Amino acid sequence: MTARIALRGVAKQFGAKQVLRGVDLAVQPGESLVIIGGSGTGKSVTIKCILGLIRPDAGSIKVDGREVTGLKGRALADHQARFGMLFQGGALFDSLPVWRNVSFALSGSVASRRAAAADNLARVGLGSDVLDLRPSSLSGGMQKRVALARAIAARPEILFFDEPTTGLDPIMADVINDLIRTLVTDLKITALTITHDMSSARKIADRVAMLYEGSIIWQGSRDELDASGNPYVDQFVHGRADGPIKMPLRTL
Ligand SMILES: Nc1ncnc2c1ncn2[C@@H]1O[C@H](COP(=O)(O)OP(=O)(O)O)[C@@H](O)[C@H]1O
Ligand SMILES: [Mg+2]
Repeated sequence: MTARIALRGVAKQFGAKQVLRGVDLAVQPGESLVIIGGSGTGKSVTIKCILGLIRPDAGSIKVDGREVTGLKGRALADHQARFGMLFQGGALFDSLPVWRNVSFALSGSVASRRAAAADNLARVGLGSDVLDLRPSSLSGGMQKRVALARAIAARPEILFFDEPTTGLDPIMADVINDLIRTLVTDLKITALTITHDMSSARKIADRVAMLYEGSIIWQGSRDELDASGNPYVDQFVHGRADGPIKMPLRTL
Protein backbone atom coordinates (compact mmCIF):
# COMPACT_ATOMS: atom_id res chain seq x y z
CA MET A 1 0.00 0.00 0.00
CA THR A 2 1.28 3.48 -0.90
CA ALA A 3 1.46 5.67 2.17
CA ARG A 4 -0.79 8.71 2.09
CA ILE A 5 2.13 10.76 3.42
CA ALA A 6 5.76 9.61 3.40
CA LEU A 7 8.75 11.58 4.66
CA ARG A 8 12.33 10.41 4.01
CA GLY A 9 15.34 12.15 5.48
CA VAL A 10 13.61 15.51 5.81
CA ALA A 11 16.05 18.12 7.15
CA LYS A 12 15.57 21.80 7.92
CA GLN A 13 17.91 24.35 9.41
CA PHE A 14 17.17 27.94 10.44
CA GLY A 15 20.40 29.92 10.70
CA ALA A 16 22.74 27.87 12.86
CA LYS A 17 19.89 25.84 14.30
CA GLN A 18 19.35 22.38 12.80
CA VAL A 19 15.68 21.75 13.62
CA LEU A 20 14.97 18.62 11.57
CA ARG A 21 17.82 16.16 11.10
CA GLY A 22 16.37 13.53 8.81
CA VAL A 23 12.74 12.80 9.65
CA ASP A 24 11.43 9.46 8.37
CA LEU A 25 7.73 8.96 8.79
CA ALA A 26 4.75 7.38 7.02
CA VAL A 27 1.04 7.94 7.51
CA GLN A 28 -1.23 5.29 5.96
CA PRO A 29 -4.59 6.13 4.34
CA GLY A 30 -7.31 6.43 6.97
CA GLU A 31 -4.84 6.32 9.83
CA SER A 32 -4.65 8.79 12.70
CA LEU A 33 -1.01 9.45 13.53
CA VAL A 34 0.03 11.68 16.42
CA ILE A 35 3.51 13.18 16.64
CA ILE A 36 4.50 13.94 20.21
CA GLY A 37 7.49 15.95 21.34
CA GLY A 38 8.49 18.86 23.54
CA SER A 39 8.05 22.54 22.69
CA GLY A 40 10.36 23.76 19.96
CA THR A 41 11.30 20.29 18.70
CA GLY A 42 10.10 21.01 15.15
CA LYS A 43 6.60 19.55 15.15
CA SER A 44 5.01 22.60 13.50
CA VAL A 45 7.94 22.89 11.09
CA THR A 46 7.31 19.27 10.03
CA ILE A 47 3.69 19.91 9.06
CA LYS A 48 4.59 23.21 7.39
CA CYS A 49 7.08 21.25 5.25
CA ILE A 50 4.35 18.77 4.26
CA LEU A 51 2.02 21.64 3.38
CA GLY A 52 4.69 23.31 1.27
CA LEU A 53 4.76 26.39 3.51
CA ILE A 54 8.42 25.70 4.36
CA ARG A 55 10.87 24.10 1.94
CA PRO A 56 13.11 21.47 3.52
CA ASP A 57 16.86 21.66 2.89
CA ALA A 58 17.01 17.94 2.12
CA GLY A 59 14.83 14.88 1.92
CA SER A 60 11.68 13.78 0.20
CA ILE A 61 8.00 14.28 1.03
CA LYS A 62 5.50 12.24 -0.95
CA VAL A 63 1.71 12.39 -0.82
CA ASP A 64 0.11 9.34 -2.46
CA GLY A 65 3.49 8.53 -3.94
CA ARG A 66 3.99 11.93 -5.57
CA GLU A 67 6.88 14.20 -4.59
CA VAL A 68 5.57 17.49 -3.21
CA THR A 69 8.75 19.33 -2.21
CA GLY A 70 9.42 22.22 -4.56
CA LEU A 71 5.84 22.53 -5.84
CA LYS A 72 4.96 26.06 -6.95
CA GLY A 73 2.00 28.10 -8.15
CA ARG A 74 -1.08 26.15 -9.21
CA ALA A 75 0.43 22.74 -8.36
CA LEU A 76 1.19 23.95 -4.82
CA ALA A 77 -2.33 25.41 -4.43
CA ASP A 78 -3.87 22.11 -5.61
CA HIS A 79 -1.66 20.23 -3.14
CA GLN A 80 -2.67 22.50 -0.25
CA ALA A 81 -6.37 22.21 -1.14
CA ARG A 82 -6.25 18.52 -0.13
CA PHE A 83 -5.65 19.41 3.51
CA GLY A 84 -7.91 20.67 6.24
CA MET A 85 -6.14 22.39 9.10
CA LEU A 86 -6.82 23.22 12.69
CA PHE A 87 -4.03 25.50 13.78
CA GLN A 88 -2.95 26.38 17.26
CA GLY A 89 -5.24 29.18 18.40
CA GLY A 90 -7.98 28.39 15.88
CA ALA A 91 -7.34 31.48 13.76
CA LEU A 92 -10.95 32.42 13.04
CA PHE A 93 -11.73 35.65 11.20
CA ASP A 94 -13.43 37.83 13.73
CA SER A 95 -14.75 40.26 11.14
CA LEU A 96 -16.87 37.45 9.68
CA PRO A 97 -19.87 35.73 11.26
CA VAL A 98 -19.49 32.08 12.24
CA TRP A 99 -21.21 30.72 9.13
CA ARG A 100 -18.87 32.59 6.80
CA ASN A 101 -15.88 31.32 8.76
CA VAL A 102 -17.08 27.73 8.44
CA SER A 103 -17.92 27.97 4.73
CA PHE A 104 -14.83 30.03 3.88
CA ALA A 105 -13.34 27.49 1.45
CA LEU A 106 -16.66 26.51 -0.13
CA SER A 107 -18.16 27.81 -3.34
CA GLY A 108 -21.83 28.04 -4.27
CA SER A 109 -24.78 30.24 -3.36
CA VAL A 110 -25.11 31.97 -0.02
CA ALA A 111 -28.00 29.65 0.85
CA SER A 112 -26.01 26.49 0.08
CA ARG A 113 -22.93 27.70 1.96
CA ARG A 114 -25.04 28.67 4.95
CA ALA A 115 -26.66 25.24 4.90
CA ALA A 116 -23.24 23.57 4.67
CA ALA A 117 -22.07 25.66 7.61
CA ALA A 118 -25.07 24.57 9.67
CA ASP A 119 -24.45 20.93 8.75
CA ASN A 120 -20.78 21.07 9.75
CA LEU A 121 -21.54 22.96 12.95
CA ALA A 122 -24.02 20.21 13.85
CA ARG A 123 -21.21 17.65 13.44
CA VAL A 124 -19.25 19.45 16.15
CA GLY A 125 -22.26 19.84 18.42
CA LEU A 126 -23.23 23.46 17.67
CA GLY A 127 -26.74 24.61 16.75
CA SER A 128 -27.76 27.05 14.03
CA ASP A 129 -28.21 29.71 16.73
CA VAL A 130 -24.45 30.47 16.40
CA LEU A 131 -24.48 30.99 12.60
CA ASP A 132 -24.68 34.77 12.72
CA LEU A 133 -22.58 35.37 15.82
CA ARG A 134 -19.04 36.76 15.76
CA PRO A 135 -16.37 34.27 16.86
CA SER A 136 -15.25 36.63 19.67
CA SER A 137 -18.65 36.34 21.34
CA LEU A 138 -18.15 32.56 21.79
CA SER A 139 -16.33 30.71 24.57
CA GLY A 140 -12.89 29.22 23.85
CA GLY A 141 -14.34 25.73 23.53
CA MET A 142 -17.01 26.90 21.09
CA GLN A 143 -14.40 28.72 19.03
CA LYS A 144 -12.43 25.46 18.78
CA ARG A 145 -15.57 23.70 17.59
CA VAL A 146 -16.12 26.37 14.93
CA ALA A 147 -12.50 26.02 13.80
CA LEU A 148 -13.00 22.25 13.66
CA ALA A 149 -16.19 22.68 11.59
CA ARG A 150 -14.22 24.90 9.20
CA ALA A 151 -11.40 22.34 8.94
CA ILE A 152 -13.81 19.58 7.82
CA ALA A 153 -16.19 21.72 5.74
CA ALA A 154 -14.49 21.05 2.41
CA ARG A 155 -14.20 17.31 3.25
CA PRO A 156 -10.42 17.27 2.91
CA GLU A 157 -8.59 13.98 2.37
CA ILE A 158 -6.12 14.80 5.11
CA LEU A 159 -6.57 16.73 8.34
CA PHE A 160 -3.77 18.37 10.31
CA PHE A 161 -4.26 19.30 13.94
CA ASP A 162 -1.58 21.50 15.50
CA GLU A 163 -1.90 21.40 19.30
CA PRO A 164 -5.71 21.12 19.10
CA THR A 165 -6.32 21.42 22.84
CA THR A 166 -3.94 24.26 23.70
CA GLY A 167 -5.68 26.89 25.82
CA LEU A 168 -8.65 24.72 26.78
CA ASP A 169 -9.46 23.50 30.25
CA PRO A 170 -9.04 19.71 30.74
CA ILE A 171 -12.73 18.92 30.36
CA MET A 172 -13.18 20.97 27.21
CA ALA A 173 -9.92 19.50 25.88
CA ASP A 174 -11.35 16.02 26.38
CA VAL A 175 -14.54 16.97 24.53
CA ILE A 176 -12.48 18.28 21.60
CA ASN A 177 -10.29 15.13 21.59
CA ASP A 178 -13.41 12.95 21.45
CA LEU A 179 -14.83 15.08 18.64
CA ILE A 180 -11.62 14.82 16.60
CA ARG A 181 -11.57 11.04 17.02
CA THR A 182 -15.24 10.76 15.98
CA LEU A 183 -14.83 13.02 12.94
CA VAL A 184 -11.71 11.22 11.74
CA THR A 185 -13.45 7.84 12.06
CA ASP A 186 -16.82 8.91 10.61
CA LEU A 187 -15.42 10.89 7.69
CA LYS A 188 -12.62 8.32 7.05
CA ILE A 189 -10.03 11.08 6.92
CA THR A 190 -6.28 10.55 7.28
CA ALA A 191 -5.21 12.63 10.27
CA LEU A 192 -1.87 13.96 11.46
CA THR A 193 -1.90 15.61 14.87
CA ILE A 194 1.01 17.22 16.65
CA THR A 195 0.81 17.74 20.36
CA HIS A 196 2.70 17.75 23.61
CA ASP A 197 -0.50 16.76 25.42
CA MET A 198 -0.45 13.03 26.20
CA SER A 199 -4.17 12.77 26.94
CA SER A 200 -4.79 14.18 23.46
CA ALA A 201 -2.38 11.65 21.93
CA ARG A 202 -4.04 8.75 23.73
CA LYS A 203 -7.51 9.80 22.56
CA ILE A 204 -6.74 10.68 18.95
CA ALA A 205 -3.98 8.29 17.86
CA ASP A 206 -4.00 4.94 16.16
CA ARG A 207 -0.23 5.28 16.10
CA VAL A 208 2.19 7.60 17.86
CA ALA A 209 5.62 8.85 16.77
CA MET A 210 8.00 10.80 18.98
CA LEU A 211 10.12 13.63 17.59
CA TYR A 212 13.28 14.37 19.55
CA GLU A 213 16.38 16.30 18.52
CA GLY A 214 15.27 16.47 14.93
CA SER A 215 14.33 12.90 14.20
CA ILE A 216 11.66 10.31 14.95
CA ILE A 217 13.17 8.28 17.79
CA TRP A 218 10.24 5.91 18.36
CA GLN A 219 6.94 4.93 16.85
CA GLY A 220 4.31 2.43 17.80
CA SER A 221 0.61 1.87 18.33
CA ARG A 222 -1.20 3.85 21.01
CA ASP A 223 -1.35 0.71 23.14
CA GLU A 224 2.44 0.39 23.06
CA LEU A 225 3.02 3.85 24.54
CA ASP A 226 3.15 2.71 28.14
CA ALA A 227 5.54 -0.15 27.47
CA SER A 228 7.68 1.40 24.74
CA GLY A 229 10.91 0.33 26.40
CA ASN A 230 12.30 3.67 25.22
CA PRO A 231 13.53 5.88 28.08
CA TYR A 232 12.87 9.11 26.13
CA VAL A 233 9.28 8.12 25.37
CA ASP A 234 8.82 6.92 28.92
CA GLN A 235 9.99 10.22 30.37
CA PHE A 236 7.75 12.22 28.04
CA VAL A 237 4.69 10.02 28.53
CA HIS A 238 4.97 10.26 32.30
CA GLY A 239 6.05 13.90 32.34
CA ARG A 240 9.08 13.29 34.52
CA ALA A 241 11.71 15.95 35.13
CA ASP A 242 14.42 13.30 35.46
CA GLY A 243 15.50 11.26 32.50
CA PRO A 244 17.52 11.35 29.30
CA ILE A 245 15.61 14.30 27.77
CA LYS A 246 17.68 17.40 28.35
CA MET A 247 15.80 20.68 28.48
CA PRO A 248 17.75 23.66 27.18
CA LEU A 249 17.92 26.10 30.13
CA ARG A 250 16.26 28.92 28.19
CA THR A 251 13.06 26.87 27.81
CA LEU A 252 12.68 26.14 31.54
N1 LIG B 1 10.33 30.44 10.04
C1 LIG B 1 11.23 30.21 11.01
N2 LIG B 1 12.38 30.89 11.06
C2 LIG B 1 13.29 30.66 12.02
N3 LIG B 1 13.17 29.73 12.98
C3 LIG B 1 12.04 29.00 12.99
C4 LIG B 1 11.01 29.20 12.01
N4 LIG B 1 10.01 28.33 12.26
C5 LIG B 1 10.39 27.62 13.35
N5 LIG B 1 11.62 28.02 13.78
C6 LIG B 1 12.34 27.45 14.93
O1 LIG B 1 12.34 26.04 14.78
C7 LIG B 1 12.20 25.40 16.04
C8 LIG B 1 11.03 24.44 16.02
O2 LIG B 1 9.81 25.17 15.90
P1 LIG B 1 8.39 24.49 15.89
O3 LIG B 1 8.31 23.48 14.81
O4 LIG B 1 7.41 25.60 15.83
O5 LIG B 1 8.33 23.77 17.31
P2 LIG B 1 7.13 22.90 17.95
O6 LIG B 1 7.64 21.51 18.08
O7 LIG B 1 6.89 23.52 19.31
O8 LIG B 1 5.95 23.01 17.04
C9 LIG B 1 12.07 26.53 17.06
O9 LIG B 1 13.32 26.73 17.66
C10 LIG B 1 11.65 27.72 16.25
O10 LIG B 1 12.08 28.90 16.84
MG1 LIG C 1 4.13 23.96 17.31
